[in-house]
Amino acid sequence: MTSDDEQARPSRRNFLAGAGIAGAGLAALRPAAAVAQVAPSRPTPAQADEEPFYGTYQGGITTPMQSSLYFASFDLAATKRSDLIAMLAAWTAASARLTAGLPAEPGTQNLADPPLDSGEAVGLNPQRLTLTFGFGPDMFSLNGDDRYGIAAKRPAALVDLPHFNGDELIDGQSNGAICIQACANDPQVAFHAVRQLARISYGAATLKWVQSGFSTANKTQGTPRNLMGFKDGTMNPTSANVAPVVWAGAEGPAWMQNGSYMVARRIRIGLEHWDRMNVAFQEQTFGRTKHTGAPLGSTAEFDTPDFDATDADGNAIIPDNAHIRLAAPVNNNGATMLRRSYSYNNGANFVAERWPPWKQGIEYDSGLFFQSYQQDPRIAFVKLFDRMSKIDALNQFTTHVGSAIFACPPGISKGQYIGQTLFAA
Ligand code: HEM
Repeated sequence: MTSDDEQARPSRRNFLAGAGIAGAGLAALRPAAAVAQVAPSRPTPAQADEEPFYGTYQGGITTPMQSSLYFASFDLAATKRSDLIAMLAAWTAASARLTAGLPAEPGTQNLADPPLDSGEAVGLNPQRLTLTFGFGPDMFSLNGDDRYGIAAKRPAALVDLPHFNGDELIDGQSNGAICIQACANDPQVAFHAVRQLARISYGAATLKWVQSGFSTANKTQGTPRNLMGFKDGTMNPTSANVAPVVWAGAEGPAWMQNGSYMVARRIRIGLEHWDRMNVAFQEQTFGRTKHTGAPLGSTAEFDTPDFDATDADGNAIIPDNAHIRLAAPVNNNGATMLRRSYSYNNGANFVAERWPPWKQGIEYDSGLFFQSYQQDPRIAFVKLFDRMSKIDALNQFTTHVGSAIFACPPGISKGQYIGQTLFAA
């Protein structure tokens, strides 16, 4: 490889040689010739749409949802613990800048050769960008190999998710050693952020799978509706009671305190099938009214569902297999999670449905990128979904095609790097 080639394509050697621990300048990761650049300035003096990057907790978990998601799961190629730490330090420094609306690396706004920031977010405000990092089971050990000396620190709550009834997981579209969840009110900002981090980690982390998603930033809808046309998120914990639901505490390892466990499921929805159902049947499926979002038998969205109510014939008004009956904490010994899901559309694809009318053909490859955050997935997602996967009426229209679990470490303060508690302890 010539020296020109070295500059055109940063090598792992360059990456690792430059990367230090927290606070190391990312410019040091790049060939010297490319570093001296015009200092960028913030696009506007007021950063009203900036979400804090530093804090007790990572952003993007209890942060009110933004309208766009770009999610990426990576395998790790780094062979040494110090290389992984260097990558996390580099990601931390870049993330602090990106969430502030700055290019990934200092002095990169003009055209370096090669550019140190791809540039598509230049001139855009932060757009409430949050970057949330999670550590998957493969980071702790891969095929029994304790690559980074952290196998013993894997939390018991970071379980290998079991095979659930009806799972049709697509090869290569699940799991991962480390993930980045980027959320912003502009899809270009969210994609840009992940793209920069993936470039910076060249040689240390390799993309495994990605998923983009959308919600709506339009508050006129109230609780946002999912692609099935129903309000989704009504019974999520509120900001007043969310803390004990999501944040890990003294019950687990000290390094995870104030972190959270994320379960992600790519759930394909048979939209064409759903669209042929009468509204009354759709409402029975969820146990809620489509227009108002109210539980069946009630009048307002936030009314408490009456699971004991019956009609004149003695039939349950909220059916036995309705989604909310099976998912409600009151019917699961209090098990609760925070859902932070985005709709997705991956184009159209050939599909053979597993339920009547067993249609085959080109259909939307669309659905819900379900994400839940909880203190312990064993007593939240796994417990709930084990039963739901068998009898939920919604299963007639949904197929889980991707799955992953990550331990999202606590937030950090300036001078620390993401995951520092894991490696320092
Ligand atoms: C495509 C898949 C899914 C769709 C379209 C969907 C949609 C909905 C809707 C419309 C509601 C009622 C409104 C609300 O309270 O948010 C709801 C509630 C809920 N869903 Fe799902 N959901 C899906 C998958 C899942 C999965 C896999 C779980 C995991 C266990 C889950 C857990 C819950 C919970 C805990 C509630 C609140 C129940 C309550 O307290 O009343 N959902 N979902």
